[in-house]
Amino acid sequence: MSFKWDSIKKPVFVLAPMANITTLPFRSICSEMGADIVYTPMLSSNAIVYNKEKTLKIAMSLPQEESKTIVQLFGYDSDLLAKAANIVQGGLKPAGIDINMGCPAPKITGNECGSALLKDVNKAVELIKLIRSKFDGQLSVKLRLGWSEFDIIELVKNLETIGINSISVHGRTAKQGYRGNANWEAINIIADKVKIPVIGNGDIKTWQEAYQRLDHSHLAGVMIGRAALGNPWIFQEIKEKKSLVISRNEIADLIMLQSKRYIDFVGEKIAMREMRKHLGWYIKNFDGASEIRKKAMQITSYNDLLDLLSMLKSN
Ligand SMILES: Cc1cc2nc3c(=O)[nH]c(=O)nc-3n(C[C@H](O)[C@H](O)[C@H](O)COP(=O)(O)O)c2cc1C
Repeated sequence: MSFKWDSIKKPVFVLAPMANITTLPFRSICSEMGADIVYTPMLSSNAIVYNKEKTLKIAMSLPQEESKTIVQLFGYDSDLLAKAANIVQGGLKPAGIDINMGCPAPKITGNECGSALLKDVNKAVELIKLIRSKFDGQLSVKLRLGWSEFDIIELVKNLETIGINSISVHGRTAKQGYRGNANWEAINIIADKVKIPVIGNGDIKTWQEAYQRLDHSHLAGVMIGRAALGNPWIFQEIKEKKSLVISRNEIADLIMLQSKRYIDFVGEKIAMREMRKHLGWYIKNFDGASEIRKKAMQITSYNDLLDLLSMLKSN
């Protein structure tokens, strides 16, 4: 049965989109650990339309994961965004498409993409309405609370009216970057205003916090980003409602699984380079981590990885 936001089994626990991170290897692991819905990194709509094969590969999923994968797009041109959405939907058969209205990075907002779309409600609604009119699939939007202040209530109501199927909200303004704390009061105000599923996001660090954020709220689910880095088990903890003690051997085995998937995905050289940051996250709490981390940052081959893992297991 195809995915529909309005028939999700609430609450849903969602892996947040993270550029260069939530590609197939890590995303599939979070999905197997219990994430109900997983987001790809944001992909440029222009790149999809003009360099289809290469860009689509970034959003590839394992077959069993397709029905819970949301592919996120960014762009400023409704035509290109709609074309890209249809190309992705036709080629990869994901659960749905998400439009990024939250990224505050200057290289994105400088091109009027991401959170820059929050500066002008009418323009944003017009853009999304045009995409909606040309794309039949499940369509969601990920937002921040506003550009410089919390002012997206009208926008969100309009998004519902024009047929957007779900929204997710990171409880900070674009100007805030990652400073301060996510404002969950504001997220809850938004969830009270619309009937479409609203997913709350920002600063959830533990499985207990995931449930606390859902308590007394109209949220359909919560989204987790940074807390899953080096700890995809957070989704298993959420599902089992208990804290897990993860041994070094289990960590090493998971690193191996992720690395093998990475190698299948992009080849050994790029996979090992990309794995360095993940290794840093997996081992950050280890005793004597600085020596292991130094070695982790230097791996260039599968053999280097095997050496590192035996060092990890024997330590
Ligand atoms: C390294 C990194 C990359 C991110 N890339 C994206 C992205 O591609 N698209 C997006 O909408 N948000 C992106 N985000 C924001 C996250 O999806 C999420 O909204 C934010 O990290 C707050 O959630 P958290 O506190 O659970 O991490 C990124 C965040 C991080 C840390």
